[in-house]
Amino acid sequence: MIDLRSDTITKPTPGMLDAMMSAEVGDDVFDGDPTTSLLQNRLAEMFRMDKALFFPSGTMANQVALRIQTNPQDEVICHKHSHIYLYEGGGMAANSQLSPKLLEGDRGRITAETVDASINSDDIHYPKSSLVGIENTMNRGGGSIYSLEEIMKIRKVCDENGLNLHMDGARLFNALVETGENPDEYGPLFDTISICFSKGLGAPIGSVLLMKRELYPKALRVRKMMGGGMRQVGYLAAACLYALDHHIDRLKEDHRRARILGEALSKSQYVQNVLPVDTNIVIVELNGITPADYLETLAKKGVKAVAFGANAVRFVTHLDFGDNDLEIILTLLK
Ligand SMILES: Cc1ncc(COP(=O)(O)O)c(C=O)c1O
Repeated sequence: MIDLRSDTITKPTPGMLDAMMSAEVGDDVFDGDPTTSLLQNRLAEMFRMDKALFFPSGTMANQVALRIQTNPQDEVICHKHSHIYLYEGGGMAANSQLSPKLLEGDRGRITAETVDASINSDDIHYPKSSLVGIENTMNRGGGSIYSLEEIMKIRKVCDENGLNLHMDGARLFNALVETGENPDEYGPLFDTISICFSKGLGAPIGSVLLMKRELYPKALRVRKMMGGGMRQVGYLAAACLYALDHHIDRLKEDHRRARILGEALSKSQYVQNVLPVDTNIVIVELNGITPADYLETLAKKGVKAVAFGANAVRFVTHLDFGDNDLEIILTLLK
């Protein structure tokens, strides 16, 4: 099977496994685990942010980010397709007693203008607008990328209105390799940024939440409460350090293959439209077939993808999908 359901399906490479097996470890809850501290410090420096904290999942990193920057009854402003709203099991309500203000926006991206217009006035009828969440790259938008210029404008609106700004950067490195921008341009624009290592970067587990210094004590406390304080976690952090050294530049390969795949899909049967392919996600809108039937037909020919809404299917390229696999799919589509 060629599995393009997600970039989360990859398995650690032999080099990554070696790095994990030889990691120096300690009890991270008692005294800090040395390899995890190394990863946290390296990322904080890379993004020019004060502090970083390791998490077992992107969902937990996002949920802690929401919790530490809001109070119960507050409102979070985000796109209606954002992961923090759509795919985290209602966590913002359950964990932090928040409600969302859901915005429209081109391929999952909100703008400074729509954020500005959505901030509630100081009136006891309304929830207090306290946090803006953006996602980069944007999964439901087909891996779309925010421009740094727009992010700066959103930051300005947040500053003018006393709001914090969070980035769900599960696939932020996909955006960075594509635009050529430097991580240190991003950190100063946000209060918190979450980054996943278990997606395009190929680690089995691991996310990091970057944050401003004043948020750190609360983040440590809430992570512990949610069960995210882990012990000899350096075995996992070592995989993430390995990914930082070996798997960032190669994301361009995933993007190249995704573009070729998107092009081929656009000429293939049942495909009405392919969303622009900016990174490693290809979303096709179907015509004359349901996603379930399309996926079944693909599966019979050895390819897996996932349904993405009522009329669409998503393919994601990744570390375990090479040129040979791409050739097989191209032949099959012809
Ligand atoms: C944009 C985005 N944010 C957050 C997550 C959550 O990551 P995890 O599956 O590690 O909880 C995902 C997972 O697919 C994602 O695509």
